[in-house]
Amino acid sequence: MAGGGADAVETAALCCAKCGKPAHLQCPKCVELKLPREGAAFCTQDCFKASWGSHKSIHLKAKLLELSPGNEQDATSPASSWLYCLKKGQARTLKMPNFDWIGTLRPYPISKKREVPAHIEQPDWASDGIPKVEPNSDLQHTVEIKTPDQIERMRETCRIAREVLDAAARVIRPGITTDEIDAVVHEATVSAGGYPSPLNYHFFPKSCCTSVNEVICHGIPDARKLEDGDIVNVDVTVYYKGVHGDLNETFFVGNVDEASQRLVQCTYECLEKAISIVKPGVRFREVGEVINRHALMSGFSVVKSYCGHGIGELFHCAPNIPHYARNKAVGIMKAGQTFTIEPMINAGVWRDRMWPDGWTAVTVDGKCSAQFEHTLLVTETGVEVLTARLPTSPNVFPWIHS
Ligand code: CO
Ligand code: CO
Repeated sequence: MAGGGADAVETAALCCAKCGKPAHLQCPKCVELKLPREGAAFCTQDCFKASWGSHKSIHLKAKLLELSPGNEQDATSPASSWLYCLKKGQARTLKMPNFDWIGTLRPYPISKKREVPAHIEQPDWASDGIPKVEPNSDLQHTVEIKTPDQIERMRETCRIAREVLDAAARVIRPGITTDEIDAVVHEATVSAGGYPSPLNYHFFPKSCCTSVNEVICHGIPDARKLEDGDIVNVDVTVYYKGVHGDLNETFFVGNVDEASQRLVQCTYECLEKAISIVKPGVRFREVGEVINRHALMSGFSVVKSYCGHGIGELFHCAPNIPHYARNKAVGIMKAGQTFTIEPMINAGVWRDRMWPDGWTAVTVDGKCSAQFEHTLLVTETGVEVLTARLPTSPNVFPWIHS
């Protein structure tokens, strides 16, 4: 609207937003958006034009607020509550960043940070976004054998994480925003006495990852409403009693086409087949062979940039577990180890790229990607799935008959 003029209106009681003199002109955009007349009135076209550079941000803020129902109480400071994520740990922005978008998905504004009650034990990144113990720990190089006490705490935390993911699964439907899913995850986690591990981890702004359609992983919950036919992965990690539990599932939104259904079911089966080989003595690199074989057989490809990981008192540690074939992972599985397997399977090519927010990993061809994840414990005889489905878990996968 730059270049246009202000409209003459009845503004007897108003003052010019620029100079304070009696104002008889009104910004037409503010009228269209039904914004308060105070702050939108000017005495002359010159004052209106001189104010345009700063005044126009009012229109953008109002539009962002429209995207956040229930957020009206923040109408006085919208800029601090809904913004696009620009980059890890850097300022967020009112403007959608420029990027050569390939798929049809776009970032939407992100709500302000959710609070965690003070009585809940927090990991060391909660306050400033920087993990301190994790990157310098010996457990980045050696795979820990958990004590019985650690294992018992992992069982408890992983069960909470499962219940949190199930709570998210129950609210997924067309029309819900991924931010609303994040609110469910956050509330369920803190009401169980846990901290949502992703929150502020390397400055990640939300309490879980929500990865829609062509997003491979690490999607940021935002104001976009899920649409009929979408697939959405929700990745939950809970920190409780000093340990983390990590799992994710990919859900159908309304009626999903057959191609996406096949992709999601194949990804589920890839994880099942990988888990079935876990026992003492098996090479970590075998996991990728099993997953690749099944994905390839269905005409899909395996993401290489993101791997399964050790987990416990640290969120991410050794071992690193690639999901692709002919990987160079070293070491064999031993009883007492805990780690995740979390294959990401693409409908098209395996390559990934990053959105300008520094988090969202997407497929380079814009085709769909699916993922499932469990936290596992190697036992003397095989494996215990610490994040296994419960009798109460919602029946959302047609191939599981419970
Ligand atoms: Co995860
Ligand atoms: Co994980």
